[in-house]
Amino acid sequence: MKEAIVVKHLKKSFGSKVVHRDVTFTVYDREIFVIMGPSGTGKSVLLKQIAGLIKPDDGYIEVYGMDILSLDEEKVIEFRETLTYVFQSGALFDSYPVWYNVAFYLIEKKGISEREAKKEASYYLSLLGLSGTEDLYPSELSGGMRKRVAVARALCMNPKCILFDEPTSGLDPVMTAIFDNLILKLRKELGKTCVVVSHDVNSAFRIADRIAILWNGTIVEVGTPEEIRNSSNPVVKQFINGEPEGPITEMMERENEQINA
Ligand SMILES: Nc1ncnc2c1ncn2[C@@H]1O[C@H](COP(=O)(O)OP(=O)(O)OP(=O)(O)O)[C@@H](O)[C@H]1O
Ligand SMILES: [Mg+2]
Repeated sequence: MKEAIVVKHLKKSFGSKVVHRDVTFTVYDREIFVIMGPSGTGKSVLLKQIAGLIKPDDGYIEVYGMDILSLDEEKVIEFRETLTYVFQSGALFDSYPVWYNVAFYLIEKKGISEREAKKEASYYLSLLGLSGTEDLYPSELSGGMRKRVAVARALCMNPKCILFDEPTSGLDPVMTAIFDNLILKLRKELGKTCVVVSHDVNSAFRIADRIAILWNGTIVEVGTPEEIRNSSNPVVKQFINGEPEGPITEMMERENEQINA
């Protein structure tokens, strides 16, 4: 199996707050790899490091053979077009219409004419069931539509790999299922590698080839949905069963005691 993303011994702290102690995992080409873990464990920070938006303190990240921590200028462009990141918030430009948000990279970085770029944007918007929204502004869209626009923008760059940060948070169950199908379709029909950060256990079990559980600065378990469901690791069990007591909450309580001491 061809490796898409290789992360080795990643370390990241913000001041005295240690987020990643030692994070190591591999994502394979055309895989749907879901990363789960309690809020604040560093899932978004992990994706941002893979996307080159935050620099790790130590460790190694490779994306389709590129060592992304030491890219020369030419490789930076190749990297940008290989992997894109869909922000947790969507991060659209409110002052631009939908189509321009989607086509932004093509116009601003690739020098493609606005006419051509709008055609491309319309194509990707139609793939996401958003035909006819081209000239609307982000403020005129629902949350679910905004999230789909952000995905259309990522697709417009035709990357091999897309990182999704909680694509379904805040969406209703039907929209969540639609998003799940979309991710399955991206892999099946367009051959994309998808890394998805999610809180939604059902959705993860539906789409994932493998699931990684991030907790306390490290990946505590990686496995198929079946393996994760049958895990005997107490952290994994508490997380996927949503139990109010266990190692995750015990650690939160210890941290709160330290803050209040
Ligand atoms: N730029 C930053 N500067 C300082 N601390 C940060 C920064 N970004 C994130 N953190 C801290 O890193 C930790 C991990 O944050 P992160 O956003 O990755 O969590 P998460 O797992 O994505 O949580 P959620 O599930 O709520 O989205 C948090 O304690 C957060 O406060
Ligand atoms: Mg997050």
